[in-house]
Amino acid sequence: MISNKTLSVAIMSGKGGVGKTNIALNVSYALSESEHPILLVDCDLGLANLDVLLGLAPTHTLQDIIVRGIRARDAIMALNNRFFFLPAASGVPQLSELDEDMLTLLVERLTPTLPGFDFALFDCGAGVNSMVLSFARMVHMRIIVVTPEPSSLTDSYALMKILHSQYHIRTFHIIVNQVENAKEEALTYQRLTSACSRFLGFSPVLLGSIRQDKAIPEAVRRQKPLLGLTNSSPAAKALHDISMRLAKVRSNLLPLVDDAPLYIPGQYNPSF
Ligand SMILES: Nc1ncnc2c1ncn2[C@@H]1O[C@H](COP(=O)(O)OP(=O)(O)O)[C@@H](O)[C@H]1O
Ligand SMILES: [Mg+2]
Repeated sequence: MISNKTLSVAIMSGKGGVGKTNIALNVSYALSESEHPILLVDCDLGLANLDVLLGLAPTHTLQDIIVRGIRARDAIMALNNRFFFLPAASGVPQLSELDEDMLTLLVERLTPTLPGFDFALFDCGAGVNSMVLSFARMVHMRIIVVTPEPSSLTDSYALMKILHSQYHIRTFHIIVNQVENAKEEALTYQRLTSACSRFLGFSPVLLGSIRQDKAIPEAVRRQKPLLGLTNSSPAAKALHDISMRLAKVRSNLLPLVDDAPLYIPGQYNPSF
């Protein structure tokens, strides 16, 4: 890579349980394997579980950066020499949402660590809580994970509608997950994009789609990234392709990315 700029990416969804965490984990793994230094941040503070998917028992978490004032780099774990992970604590009700001051503090403490990474990936919680909305505004790129279930489609649309109507955000990338066949894949994206273009006036970009694949729950049970176990299952191939497309998106966006990897909400009006 010619540039050392960090592309910040939030992985979001309207509905929970659609595959965000598995996608965030495997995309991070694939990008790190293809020479990109990456920081994966667990931002699902209510139900943080990336540590479980990695079979780790972290001693410090994202919440410690805010509450105990530890340095971000002391909470970040090196999984190998390019893959870095910032875990979060789960089940701490008073810290399952961060208020604006806490978020600002987090951004201030995290920002000095970011220039070393090509990507900072934020695995967000589902839905439209204020933390999700803040992260959506702070990053360069938003990926919405959707499944063919009607409730996932309507919730994804609702998430984009809120981000568009409240914050004028109109650039989204879509990953369609847990599809049975090519027809379902096409129909899901088509339904979502036609609702967006008709009622919101923009079309989200399709980043890729992933088949329903039992290799994913199997990798979850083994507490390893799927791509660390196999490259050949249908989901593994799709996750690899999506990661390579994301690397391409980064190269294309770099000229538009300024030096701030994260923007403090309220101070930035996203332009791409
Ligand atoms: N493509 C897929 N095929 C089969 N199972 C999947 C797939 N994607 C996700 N899953 C399963 O769905 C469940 C929810 O995934 P997870 O990544 O935790 O979702 P989220 O982070 O959106 O809540 C997990 O049990 C996971 O194994
Ligand atoms: Mg999750």
